[in-house]
Amino acid sequence: MSKGIKIVTIGGGSSYTPELVEGFIKRYDELPVRELWLVDIEAGKEKLEIVGAMAKRMVKAAGVDCEVHLTLDRREALKDADFVTTQLRVGLLDARILDERIPLSHGLIGQETNGAGGIFKALRTVPVILDIVEDMKELCPNAWLINFTNPAGMVTEAVLRYGNWDKVVGLCNIPVNAVFEEAELLGENNRELFFQFAGINHLHWHTITDKNGKDRTDELIKVMYGQDDAKSIVANIKDNNLIWEQVENLHMVPCPYHNYYYYTDKMLAEELEDFKNNGTRAEKVKEIEHELFELYKDPNLDYKPKQLAERGGARYSDAACEIINSIHNDKRTTMTVSTRNNGTITDLPAESAVEVTCTITGKGPVPYNFGSFKPQERGLLQVMKSMEELTIEAAVTGDYGTLLQAFTMNPLITSGDVAKEVMDELLEAHKQYLPAFFKEGK
Ligand code: G6P
Repeated sequence: MSKGIKIVTIGGGSSYTPELVEGFIKRYDELPVRELWLVDIEAGKEKLEIVGAMAKRMVKAAGVDCEVHLTLDRREALKDADFVTTQLRVGLLDARILDERIPLSHGLIGQETNGAGGIFKALRTVPVILDIVEDMKELCPNAWLINFTNPAGMVTEAVLRYGNWDKVVGLCNIPVNAVFEEAELLGENNRELFFQFAGINHLHWHTITDKNGKDRTDELIKVMYGQDDAKSIVANIKDNNLIWEQVENLHMVPCPYHNYYYYTDKMLAEELEDFKNNGTRAEKVKEIEHELFELYKDPNLDYKPKQLAERGGARYSDAACEIINSIHNDKRTTMTVSTRNNGTITDLPAESAVEVTCTITGKGPVPYNFGSFKPQERGLLQVMKSMEELTIEAAVTGDYGTLLQAFTMNPLITSGDVAKEVMDELLEAHKQYLPAFFKEGK
């Protein structure tokens, strides 16, 4: 019998874990995962135990030979791992609530991965990921890191630039969902269409070509945005029917997060309304999570419940399994991931992480060449990439001025006094997770 594969999932107590387990079970013949280590921290222990017990039931019901280990000891788990997946949330959902509430209370977009909230999620997460990479260098130097911790693009870039670790793939479910949902809108089988994505995480555009080489992009834009009920491809964003003349003029399909940039006033008004009536998305997610964990406690539940689809990140974990499968077996699957730019998009630095369509080989992602964008995409993309670079640098150095530059550059943050006030409030609120900013002598 072959040795089998050892997977370590950091943030293993997440409500998304059943999808990951399902993904491994489904691929077991090609990808014999014999050890799955679910790692969490003390504060996540209860969730880890609940979801871990459920993972064990799933594996047992499927009759596959895979040991599921639960641990709070990351280093014990990492030893000799083949693949490490990261799905952690520093500060848990309570930190996300602050990321969303504080900007909103100053009249700014309050969102998990965009605007001020997204910047602070990066500040909290980058130091933790870099620590994980240091452990990997020592304990599993041949392993691949598959990161789906948000903000996935910035986290991936931090690993490449500051972790000096090349074996990293950043993953997001937006392109995965787009392939499924948009093929359906065109009445086609997604396997017969070629989607080419280019940009950065949560800010990319794509084209679609069918098997006869016909470009179907404009047709899809019309189906998606040329009518009153624009189609949303993720559960956490309401599509806003972007201004038709603008979206038509792109000749590339924008991603759902473009709503925040192309229609900021409308998105903000909606968020403020929701905030007033129901609280923020993070608070809603807390309720969904509670419901999911109540289900996971059921000793008879041994499959992924359909309620998981209410989370915006549906299909993430399955895509992670496919990347691992493709690397392990050199399957050369076409997937869109965050990886080093290396000239794929000529408008961005070579060292940056970009989210682009790739062939996933045994040696990792090989991007399809893209070239350069038209000015309608290029300007925003370059601003956002510079903003990301500054954010990552601030996360590593704890430099206040660098962070303020990132805030000033972000199109969703009003510059000047408001930026500084929101930033100061967030710094104070997340103090315990920002050691670089609050170390002694600073
Ligand atoms: C989308 C994004 C993910 C994000 C999720 C949030 O799917 O691509 O990066 O994690 O939404 O979903 P939630 O249910 O947590 O609001």
